Amino acid sequence: MADNRAIGVFDSGLGGLTVVSELMREMPEESIVYFGDTGRVPYGTRSRETIKKYASEDEAFLLKNDVKLIIAACGTVSSVASDTSKQLPVPYFEVVSHAAYSAAKTTKNGRIGVLGTAATVKSGKHEKFIKEILPEAEVTACACSLFVSLVEEGWIADDDPVVIETAKRYLKPIVDAGADTVILGCTHFPVLKGAIKNIVGTDVTLVDAGTATANAIKKYLNDNALAADSKSRPHHKFFVSDKPYSFCSTATRLLGKKVNDEDIKQVDLSNL
Ligand code: DGL
Repeated sequence: MADNRAIGVFDSGLGGLTVVSELMREMPEESIVYFGDTGRVPYGTRSRETIKKYASEDEAFLLKNDVKLIIAACGTVSSVASDTSKQLPVPYFEVVSHAAYSAAKTTKNGRIGVLGTAATVKSGKHEKFIKEILPEAEVTACACSLFVSLVEEGWIADDDPVVIETAKRYLKPIVDAGADTVILGCTHFPVLKGAIKNIVGTDVTLVDAGTATANAIKKYLNDNALAADSKSRPHHKFFVSDKPYSFCSTATRLLGKKVNDEDIKQVDLSNL
């Protein structure tokens, strides 16, 4: 039995598209419904209560679109609101545990860096999951809130002086700690992978939450007869709560295929 309903993915903005691009690579036959809450980004500097409220509204929107599974493609929501979201009527995936387990398996020297938003770092969730399988790990976590704005603004070139200076300042504690593995704990951050790599060094492994999560979802869909027909033609839909001017160009870059203005619909969650 195949299930051709779409996978629902949400984030506070564009960052979740880094997870979508991994899903498309791993499972090209799956349809995606994406919601980016661009009208209310960033989430990572807000209170737990607000993040939980936004997350449940985003999930309600995706459920209206008859999705078969929901992914919180947002490190912040995954860290703060996952307990509530586990009660959804469809299977729910977050992006923190898979990345943390993957980093714990990757590190050689037991020193792991975590880059996330302020709310993600405050939650300590990455460290908790890492220590489940590597209790002696030394974890250095840094809140890098400005990275989110740089990506939303489209300031993402590896040689952009603002990107380099911001990254240098944020990454210093992780470089000083000698981490050999760094988790990109916010889904916006893989967009800045090149600049981050230039600062931490090529010997350091960057763990992208999207890759780790896409692998786990592929296995889940196959094990539970929820995968789409391998011959089906996928239909992707992209929704945002506000249309920033850089959305199409950044989305095109992240997904590796042309995203036009008419491919993206603006929705008002208060009308649900
Ligand atoms: N992509 C979100 C995350 O993974 C960005 C957070 C934000 O909106 O501040 O945490």
